[in-house]
Amino acid sequence: MLTITIIYAFLMIFFPLSMQSIFFSLPLYPMTTDTTMKRLLSLALIALTLGANAQNVRESIRMDKGWKFALGHATDPQKDFGCGTEYFNYLTKANSIHNAGPYAPKFDDASWQEIQIPHDWVTTLPYASEASHSHGYKAVGWKYPQNSVGWYRKTFTVDNEDSGKRLVLRFDGIFRNAQVWFNGIYMGTEPSGYASQLFDITPYVKYGEDNLICVRADASLEEGWYYEGAGIYRDVWLEKSADVSVAPFGTFVYSTMEAPYNEALIHVQTEVFNNGTKTQQFEVEQRLLDAEGREVAHAQGLVNPLQAKDTHTTQHVMKIAHPHLWSTTDPYLYKIQTTVMVGGRVCDVYETTTGFRDIAFDADQGFLLNGKPLKLKGVNMHQDHAGIGTAIPDALQAWRIRQLKALGCNAYRASHNPMTPALLDICDQEGMLVIEENRLMGINEEHLRLLERMIKRDRNHPCIILWSDGNEEWGLENNIQGTRIAESMRLHTQRLDPTRPSSVANAGGSELIKGVDVVGFNYIIQNDVDNRKKNNPTWKIVGTEETTGCGTRGWYYDQPAYPGRMVSINRTDKPGVVNVIERGWKFYDERPWAAGLFYWTGFDYRGEPNPLSYPAHDSEFGILDYCGFPKDEAFYLKSWWTDEPVLHIFPHWNLKGHEGEEVDLWAYSNCDEVELIVNGKTLGRQQMPKNGHLKWKSTYQPGKIVAKGFKNGKRILTKTIETTQSAYTTAMKTDRTNINADGRDLAIITVEIQDQKKHLVPDACPLLTFLLTGDARILGVGNGDPMYLGEDHPETQNCKSFSIPAFNGLAQIIVQGTDKPSDITLQCFSNGLKASSINLKTR
Ligand code: GAL
Repeated sequence: MLTITIIYAFLMIFFPLSMQSIFFSLPLYPMTTDTTMKRLLSLALIALTLGANAQNVRESIRMDKGWKFALGHATDPQKDFGCGTEYFNYLTKANSIHNAGPYAPKFDDASWQEIQIPHDWVTTLPYASEASHSHGYKAVGWKYPQNSVGWYRKTFTVDNEDSGKRLVLRFDGIFRNAQVWFNGIYMGTEPSGYASQLFDITPYVKYGEDNLICVRADASLEEGWYYEGAGIYRDVWLEKSADVSVAPFGTFVYSTMEAPYNEALIHVQTEVFNNGTKTQQFEVEQRLLDAEGREVAHAQGLVNPLQAKDTHTTQHVMKIAHPHLWSTTDPYLYKIQTTVMVGGRVCDVYETTTGFRDIAFDADQGFLLNGKPLKLKGVNMHQDHAGIGTAIPDALQAWRIRQLKALGCNAYRASHNPMTPALLDICDQEGMLVIEENRLMGINEEHLRLLERMIKRDRNHPCIILWSDGNEEWGLENNIQGTRIAESMRLHTQRLDPTRPSSVANAGGSELIKGVDVVGFNYIIQNDVDNRKKNNPTWKIVGTEETTGCGTRGWYYDQPAYPGRMVSINRTDKPGVVNVIERGWKFYDERPWAAGLFYWTGFDYRGEPNPLSYPAHDSEFGILDYCGFPKDEAFYLKSWWTDEPVLHIFPHWNLKGHEGEEVDLWAYSNCDEVELIVNGKTLGRQQMPKNGHLKWKSTYQPGKIVAKGFKNGKRILTKTIETTQSAYTTAMKTDRTNINADGRDLAIITVEIQDQKKHLVPDACPLLTFLLTGDARILGVGNGDPMYLGEDHPETQNCKSFSIPAFNGLAQIIVQGTDKPSDITLQCFSNGLKASSINLKTR
């Protein structure tokens, strides 16, 4: 122990911080063994001879602030800042004195708008009845060339000390057809709005001076059939590393282990790239760190030569005893710390966060996590939110995942495109299983490049259990070409990641699915799932889409004055109406061979307001509405997907205008029995069928419903719904009061319209006005009304006041802090109602 203390003291005094951090993250207690001691001594020796030269320069800088934005034009080059009209082409010589477009450093962007990334410029565009139905009637796309091209510019300084480092610019996603220039020189074009893009800017950089990034995004043409937004809607990074360093997304970590998981082999593949000008001798060392940062395994490699501009892949295997397994209830994460050394000098320390779990899809047992069958209780999700569009900050991503988890949801299908990396980190941390989906099916250069980019970027995430190579390829599902393409993509997927199977979501066809590992069925009805399983007993099956049958939150009577709202299809409850939420869960729950299902969808999204059309602009398939407020169906799933006692009665009892009419009263609950007492009269006690609902008939008169829930004969829950008094006050509650002062963090605030007894008034829709004081901004507002045609996102970056009507008693406002610590007050006013306020802090 004394020796260890001396070594530690020595290191403290003589070594640079980067080396110290390696040593001091080693815990003291395992060092009592001989081997650990020897290793520590040999590491100390390396450090003694070489540590003073250690130069780990790896750094990721978030490039979210200081951007300028302006709309260009898709068909009129003059209005597109002259792009394409100059004598010398904008793809070459764009920085010459002859070129004057936004890519040219001399271009004056003083009149452009200041914005922060992530940014979706469609959020502030108006709705238009002739605009794209699938994309939610926003005035963007080929019919609106004046709104469909966006230009971004950002100037930043690169320090002289950065000379000699490798500098890579990384975009996590730009919608779409993005052209990128750096210092007036064309870097490249990426057609897909869902792919990460990397540009090596090292030789183009001006040290100690201003450097310019310029991006032109063109959203004239769509890539999917749902709202896709437009612009730099995901993060941008400047990655700094040494000349010899781990390549971007250059590690692949996976475990091999068997039940009872007493030990695991951890495999690490590392691509090391030499961006320098000379051949270098390098070696790679791997350290496995547990969640507390303690080293639990270690592996050293051989010294290898690496030519300039070449990549070398190293392989390491480490053995650990009793791995702490990652699961949906205990999402335990490890880190691999990869150290690259040249001539013994540390030049890169690269961290890969990962987790170890055993996954399998099985023809008889469905999906297995860590050796045990686990039913996938999943939802499909697009990537937009009320008032925010596709530019979802990380804190909101995390909140959305938590709303789903609260329903018992354990799986997320990223329909129909690769996800933002930040969301995958959140799914790892929250224990949410993921099917990540590729956008385009095909086997040519563009298709495979996109597939490869997704898999190589994301394969270290323990949350991902299945790759989806495509969705509903109607032109391929019923022919041999489809089988061949699916098979070929499956093999490519396997080559990039042998640890996970792949799938394609099938709309009913019979041929393409012969080429996949796991058959994804979109809707039981169109796929005749039982018969197909009977005829193909070895098929592994998952319900990639199943209907929720949802409608508008809190809407119980269709009304001609509101053509964009609809009563939930579940309320029809007639024989023959099969598009209901219960059918899906009952079916998949009863069949052990089925891995589970993914409802269409978790949240409402913009676009596809089927079967309605304008003025409806948002889908109504969600279990939660566009803000994440629960619809009745959320309580159906919570009843059968969680162990929490649930008793939910609907409709509400504010059915003004329907006095004397017969009303169906429903209960979603996991109680054994429920009794309903309406206006003082019992309607009887009924037994809840498994995975079902209960229903009573009543006649509406204002008053009170009391529901009693029983388990094993004992009353465990009582719920009361009253006809409320008229709206009296606004009341706000926030998901948190402390916001990190980083300019990105935010609070999600729910506004309830309440009567004097503090009951939610479920049909109140008063106009609300918000006023914000302090260093913070209103990022967006929402109400979940699928036909709300007003504004929900501010034009300016520093918005302090905004108005939106509540919808059926609720509204949402998202407040984002700045990077200055501040006390913040949000007030909510509404004519004739008592105002409310809430205090937040950024620290
Ligand atoms: C499915 C499709 C989804 C969505 C849904 C709407 O067939 O895969 O993307 O369009 O229909 O009902």
